[in-house]
Amino acid sequence: MTTRTERDAPPVDAEQQALFDALIADEQRIEPRDWMPDAYRRTLIRQISQHAHSEIIGMQPEGNWITRAPSLKRKAILLAKVQDEAGHGLYLYSAAQTLGITREEMTRQLIDGEAKYSSIFNYPTPTWADMGAIGWLVDGAAICNQVPLCRASYGPYGRAMVRICKEESFHQRQGFEILLTLMQGTPAQRRMAQDAVNRWYWPSLAMFGPPDDQSPNSAQSMAWKIKRFSNDELRQRFVAMLVPQAEVLGVTLPDPDLRWDPETERYEMGEIDWDDFFAVLRGHGPCNAERLQRRRDAHEDGAWVREAAAEYARKRAAQEQAEAA
Ligand SMILES: [Fe+2]
Ligand SMILES: [Fe+2]
Repeated sequence: MTTRTERDAPPVDAEQQALFDALIADEQRIEPRDWMPDAYRRTLIRQISQHAHSEIIGMQPEGNWITRAPSLKRKAILLAKVQDEAGHGLYLYSAAQTLGITREEMTRQLIDGEAKYSSIFNYPTPTWADMGAIGWLVDGAAICNQVPLCRASYGPYGRAMVRICKEESFHQRQGFEILLTLMQGTPAQRRMAQDAVNRWYWPSLAMFGPPDDQSPNSAQSMAWKIKRFSNDELRQRFVAMLVPQAEVLGVTLPDPDLRWDPETERYEMGEIDWDDFFAVLRGHGPCNAERLQRRRDAHEDGAWVREAAAEYARKRAAQEQAEAA
């Protein structure tokens, strides 16, 4: 058996690279059958699979409240929202599979703790108001991040994002509406809503990633037209969306330094606690271990379903073969 060494690797096909570059420059889409640079493929596999894992792990903090929702209507809405997130995970796993990685491998990376997912889902949800704050802030940040991804240069990713974004808009509205109802309630309900906003505000700002001058991979992603706006630009858009909505709700955004600067036409804001962000990312958040363990257990509990489905498919194929003969 021979193994291929770096030296034997074929040189990058200049013609194919030129065609790829031209498609990107021309705002065309790269499709699974097209040639693409290895680094582009690897970047997309990492980004799309992390995104899928985030949707799946993201079901847990809210799933926690399905049995305790305060009314049948709230339960139905929350159930639908959490199911949407499962759907998002599945579209995204399918999009990643078109790049040549298997679903099994992605699942293994997640449950072995090798893969990352959005750090925001490692925070606890102790009150019902957290359902409001997650919908308003976390799904709100997701919308700001994801609407530009509808134009991502990789076809299957961009197309998956179109439907996902429509559903995210519903998620944000339902969260806003939960908070609005609480803010019109008793003093205790208003305090609960404000407390949840205080806890989710900073982690939701951190969802956009480190400041531009500390985000080394952003430039390449923007050159490939996977990413369309920088982390800081997206954070600005998010805050611009929140400020008038916070006024309608009657909640305070917990940043005393937040103010509009008419000269730069940007929001000035306080410093995000990046040490905390990176600690949670490295696995030291309040719920990292619990989230992963729950996912691992669900995977093991579902083993019989996968085995039964595979066995059924095998029997069907054998039956069809026998009938054809
Ligand atoms: Fe989602
Ligand atoms: Fe969502």
